[in-house]
Amino acid sequence: MPAFSASSPGKIILFGEHAVVYGEPALAVPVQTLQARVIVQAVISGTSGEIWIEAPEIDLYAFLDDLSGDHPLRAAVAAVAGEENLDRIPACRVQITSTIPPSSGLGSSAAVSAAVIRAFSAFLGKRLSDREISDLTFEVEKIYHGTPSGIDNSVVVFQKPVYFQKGSPLQFLAIGSPFEILIADSGIAGDTGKAVAAVRDKWLADQEDCGRIFTGIGRLTRKAKDLITSGNPLGLGPLMVQNQAYLRELGVSSPELDRLADRALQAGALGAKLSGGGLGGHLIALPGENVEGVRQALLDGGAKSVLLTTVQG
Ligand code: MEV
Repeated sequence: MPAFSASSPGKIILFGEHAVVYGEPALAVPVQTLQARVIVQAVISGTSGEIWIEAPEIDLYAFLDDLSGDHPLRAAVAAVAGEENLDRIPACRVQITSTIPPSSGLGSSAAVSAAVIRAFSAFLGKRLSDREISDLTFEVEKIYHGTPSGIDNSVVVFQKPVYFQKGSPLQFLAIGSPFEILIADSGIAGDTGKAVAAVRDKWLADQEDCGRIFTGIGRLTRKAKDLITSGNPLGLGPLMVQNQAYLRELGVSSPELDRLADRALQAGALGAKLSGGGLGGHLIALPGENVEGVRQALLDGGAKSVLLTTVQG
């Protein structure tokens, strides 16, 4: 029997997380070295509706039916089939593997959902466009994060650098000159849902002050877009430092992320900031000339691992 497979990359947000939920733009790029991969294969001897899920990384081995109605994996399959049609799906086995660490700000949930939706639609013989897959992934993201902006599903489905603003057509970002980014694992689990909810509470309590922060982040993001497209990525450093200061004000950084940012800058990084929801997860640094020195400083500062990625078109 043929197998239907799909994969989706991880992502980093270069600028604009959280403010993007409130209508400001944000910049995100895929990280191709991190991938979620899904294989769907028919089980000839099975009964319709028997969908066996295997996701070793989260120790999940179960029939889809036994997952709660609001389980994101169930929602991803139902997004393709329609909840009422799950019983009629030919028996199959769905294998999910991922090298994207979960709860890390690297887009693991969106990438897994996108890969499930892409592989499952192929299995059912439905030809979905990237736009449709992105929209369905967005619906599943709501289960994880409540009020996602739509940036994570966009970048992992289209697999290109994006300039994203809610309510505006998605823009792909032309990279004028490729540049390197170090991605450091703080070792502390992030929680995007909790971070987004905490920012919402802060915003409800003081809309004027949060509005100032969001506007400031939006301004940095627009400047960053110009620098990236015009081939001047080294100018991003001070903007990253300023973006991190705003995120700290919003309360979504953590002592570990702050320490890593300080260590990176002391070692000569041009800029550093958290990436994604925060409260843990990953820090990104623009290493400039001193890639090895900054990597070592991040490890010495407590990073559990450091990955180098090249941002390119
Ligand atoms: C999460 O990767 C980025 C946030 O801005 C949430 C969102 O945009 O959905 C924190």
